Amino acid sequence: MSDQGTRQGGGVRAILTRRSLLKGTAMAAGALAAGPLLQACGPAAGPQASSGPLKLGVLVPLSGVYSGLGQDMVQGMQLYLDSINNEIAGRKVQIIQEDSEAKTDVAPTKARKLLDQDKVDLVTGIVHSGVALALRDLFDSTKNILIISNAGADDVTGAKKSKYIFRTSFSNSQTTYPAGPWVFNNIGKKAALSAPDYAAGKEMMNGFKRTFTEAGGEVVFEVYPPLGNNDYQPFLTQLQQANPEVIFSFYSGSDAVRFVQQYEQFGLKGKIPLAGAGFMTESDVLPQQGAAAEGIRTSLHYTYLLDTPENKKFVEAYQAKFNELPSVFALQAYDATQLIDAAIKTTQGNTSDKDKLVEALVNASITSPRGPFKIDPDTHNPIMHIYMREVQKVGDDMGNVVIADLGEAKGPS
Ligand code: BEZ
Repeated sequence: MSDQGTRQGGGVRAILTRRSLLKGTAMAAGALAAGPLLQACGPAAGPQASSGPLKLGVLVPLSGVYSGLGQDMVQGMQLYLDSINNEIAGRKVQIIQEDSEAKTDVAPTKARKLLDQDKVDLVTGIVHSGVALALRDLFDSTKNILIISNAGADDVTGAKKSKYIFRTSFSNSQTTYPAGPWVFNNIGKKAALSAPDYAAGKEMMNGFKRTFTEAGGEVVFEVYPPLGNNDYQPFLTQLQQANPEVIFSFYSGSDAVRFVQQYEQFGLKGKIPLAGAGFMTESDVLPQQGAAAEGIRTSLHYTYLLDTPENKKFVEAYQAKFNELPSVFALQAYDATQLIDAAIKTTQGNTSDKDKLVEALVNASITSPRGPFKIDPDTHNPIMHIYMREVQKVGDDMGNVVIADLGEAKGPS
């Protein structure tokens, strides 16, 4: 499972191949945790369980543009569960994994299956903001607990916050609003924006736009290609024609690989600086982007290069287990699993009293590899630092080197 072959410049096809291999590994790891328990315990123990297996429903995309993110999240969970021998408060952990396909019309059916048929104790995962929004009412009205470990839809911990929904990831605007003044002061005063045409893209651009224009900057052009796009050339043409001093973007998964590669192929690298939300150059895509990504500056709450003792331990353990560097997606799922562990220990294994479990989740304290981290008791969204990072060569790898600490950020803004 070495990255070496794909790091040498394999392109999108190579990352999908490598990711498919990882998918097999990650799912096998999940099945390993679940397999013997499924045999031993037979049918679901029911939602009132406080003994017997602890059933964690994991809803992530394992196909499509965000499949690599889903795979990293499964690996992050697996790493933490291995470290606690797959047991929380005396209950063996059973993972029940479903492919959300990152589709708003597929995920609710899969979530209902996890709740009604599998009778999971709680659900975690969720990559796509639209999926998080589509699931919000289901979890709120049935008082089932959802721990989101990626999807950043602002409303889920903002205007439509729910007592039963928590996030260990971020809200979309939280990742970019701290970058506005920094980009204005350090890169350029006229920006063109580009992101996929759905809630996450719009909210990340709006977060940046607000503070960039407050600082005195001007947004001269915006373009929103469809999610899961192959050809960015028409959009790059429009971005160039707008004559900005900086392009600020959000892309993730296979979109990020293609956008960054085509930005170089189209000749914009070296002419117009590229900045954006850090997902665009995270460790899941950086090996494929290679030198095309060098110099891109992005804002995010994590990089595997963060210099904390907890992060060093996390990165070493992740590399030893999966032979690759952890991404923010693996980190967020690792922390979701830590949070679940801490809360369920507090309730001594009892997951049937949802209000008690909510209280335990609000009060749980975990040490995140990302550094300072707490759950906002009002919104259930993390309060954490956002860093400005720059892609640089680090040994044989490309890495996101911290170039500024933008301070503590709450979300949504
Ligand atoms: C989202 O849809 O919320 C999202 C997807 C990928 C990366 C970051 C956010």
